[in-house]
Amino acid sequence: MTQTILVTGGAGFIGSHFIRYLLRTYQEIRVINADALTYSGNLFNLRDVEKDPRYEFLRVDLAVREQVEKVFAGHRIDQVVHFAAESHVDRSIEGAWPFIRSNIIGTHHLLEASMKKNVDRFVHVSTDEVYGSIPYGKADEQTLLAPGNPYSASKASSDLLCLAFHHTYGFPVVITRCTNNYGPNQYPEKLIPHLIRQAMKNQPLPIYGNGQQERDWIHVIDHCRAVDVVRLHGRAGEVYHIGAENPIPNLQVAKKILDLMGKPHSLIQHVADRLGHDIRYSLDSSKIRTELGWAPTISFDEGLEQTVQWYLTHAEWWASIEQRRAERG
Ligand SMILES: NC(=O)c1ccc[n+]([C@@H]2O[C@H](COP(=O)([O-])OP(=O)(O)OC[C@H]3O[C@@H](n4cnc5c(N)ncnc54)[C@H](O)[C@@H]3O)[C@@H](O)[C@H]2O)c1
Repeated sequence: MTQTILVTGGAGFIGSHFIRYLLRTYQEIRVINADALTYSGNLFNLRDVEKDPRYEFLRVDLAVREQVEKVFAGHRIDQVVHFAAESHVDRSIEGAWPFIRSNIIGTHHLLEASMKKNVDRFVHVSTDEVYGSIPYGKADEQTLLAPGNPYSASKASSDLLCLAFHHTYGFPVVITRCTNNYGPNQYPEKLIPHLIRQAMKNQPLPIYGNGQQERDWIHVIDHCRAVDVVRLHGRAGEVYHIGAENPIPNLQVAKKILDLMGKPHSLIQHVADRLGHDIRYSLDSSKIRTELGWAPTISFDEGLEQTVQWYLTHAEWWASIEQRRAERG
């Protein structure tokens, strides 16, 4: 029987790749994309699938209970993969409310509606940032949560709500926690597309503090494959880490981008550090590798080169971002 999968946040960076991945990988599938189209949601990210009869877009704000209930009232939904969130740390430092609203309240509404309708699998997509800074070594799935900024605190809160729904009601939730993603279609406030954009314009590449903060970068397609493996085979109530296990300082990322674009390192400009900046994130991803047989396939050097090329050759995508910004005022 054809399964219907509700993907939330499918107009965003990772969600749009995941929807494309589902439609390309499975013939017998229906995908509903529920997205509020906030500043980072962009339907242009899905222009190649929007006419696919197996795909449907619904504009839904998860923080409004009635809107969530309406989705479930109008459709038979077998599984939920939950990407929708406010996702940018800097914005959460400026104001936490949108993060509490979308990431905590929105997740709660989605959990309640999904449980009421006996959804048989709920994948909650989370982040390595819930552990706070890991100055050395790697966090495993048993490491205590210690989020260091409002974004990661809101994600940790939604993770705990999901686990509580499993523990209390036996609701079949699985959580993934992934490291930093990069690839095409990423909203250009995020480090890699922002640096590429600045280099394209020969403008300074701002780097917080000394640039020694380390992040473990994973290509978005490797992340999507992992989320799908967890959707299919992950054990309910479990957390699975997804990572490349190769943390790199931000300064080195900036230098690699400039090298790929044939631009001088002198474009790098150190700026005042982010408040409460976590120095290092690093995950042990051996559980998903041994239990579910997943492994990343794209090295950072290869993926970064492809990604730089993509941003250099997709003027129409940059135009769609400008258009969205103009529409929103
Ligand atoms: N980007 C990363 O490096 C990374 C790493 C690990 C985990 N994650 C997680 O993956 C998920 C997706 O991240 P992303 O980078 O694609 O983010 P994104 O900002 O590109 O996309 C988020 C999407 O969610 C939608 N959205 C926001 N609030 C909503 C609401 N109230 N109702 C409905 N839709 C709403 C937005 O419109 C947007 O389309 C997030 O949950 C994030 O925490 C991201």
